[in-house]
Amino acid sequence: MHRGLGPFAGSEEDRLIDTSWPEERFLVRPGVDLRGPGDWGTVFGRKGELSVEIGYGKDEFLLELAEARPDGLFLGIDFSRPRTRSYLRKIAKRRLENVRVLYEHAANAIGYCLGDQAVSELFVLFPDPWPKERHARNRLVRPWFAREAARVLEPGGRFTLATDHPPYRDQMIEVIEANGAFTNLRGPGNFGPRPEGFDETIFERRWVDQGRDVFYLQYTRVTA
Ligand SMILES: C[S@@+](CC[C@H](N)C(=O)[O-])C[C@H]1O[C@@H](n2cnc3c(N)ncnc32)[C@H](O)[C@@H]1O
Repeated sequence: MHRGLGPFAGSEEDRLIDTSWPEERFLVRPGVDLRGPGDWGTVFGRKGELSVEIGYGKDEFLLELAEARPDGLFLGIDFSRPRTRSYLRKIAKRRLENVRVLYEHAANAIGYCLGDQAVSELFVLFPDPWPKERHARNRLVRPWFAREAARVLEPGGRFTLATDHPPYRDQMIEVIEANGAFTNLRGPGNFGPRPEGFDETIFERRWVDQGRDVFYLQYTRVTA
């Protein structure tokens, strides 16, 4: 199945279809709009602190931040075609010139589009939990992901994750803390409720309405 527009894009036909996307100016096509990982200043037309969310889904968490912080630069990453289409429309409707979108698998988006220490904050909010044990290897937060997060975050950069799924929460903690590049703001192994100033996401609301607990993890990238 075709996913993404970058160097991993599928057939030429996919590319032709994708050129007719709505509000295409917010979509970043690796190799076309972005010549290399250091090219974000060109893409946004200016420099600024870059905040990245992986897996925006139908949620507008990052768009709220972008609206509240017009000086910042905001990049959403998701590999869902319908969600990306509707996200592009939402960005246009809100007139958010400081937001861009990568329609890519996170591994491609991070590995090929984000340079070392390029990111000030990184959000992974309610990623697919893959609750069945035999599917757990599909989870996003695994050692490769922690390594990439450590590479792209600037020293002191913030890394926030959330889930409703206790086994995934424990996996996140284990994997991120084993990496050694992060300090848990709540103390090693700890998690807590949604931090102040964070908007509830769509998935969070769904789980809370069903009576489930949600867990937030907050890390900073160590400076050494
Ligand atoms: C469960 S939804 C959560 C959406 C939103 N953050 C919220 O809390 O409402 C997870 C989203 O992550 C996206 N996603 C999952 N794995 C991904 C990956 N490897 N790369 C990019 N996007 C991914 C899915 O397409 C989906 O839109």
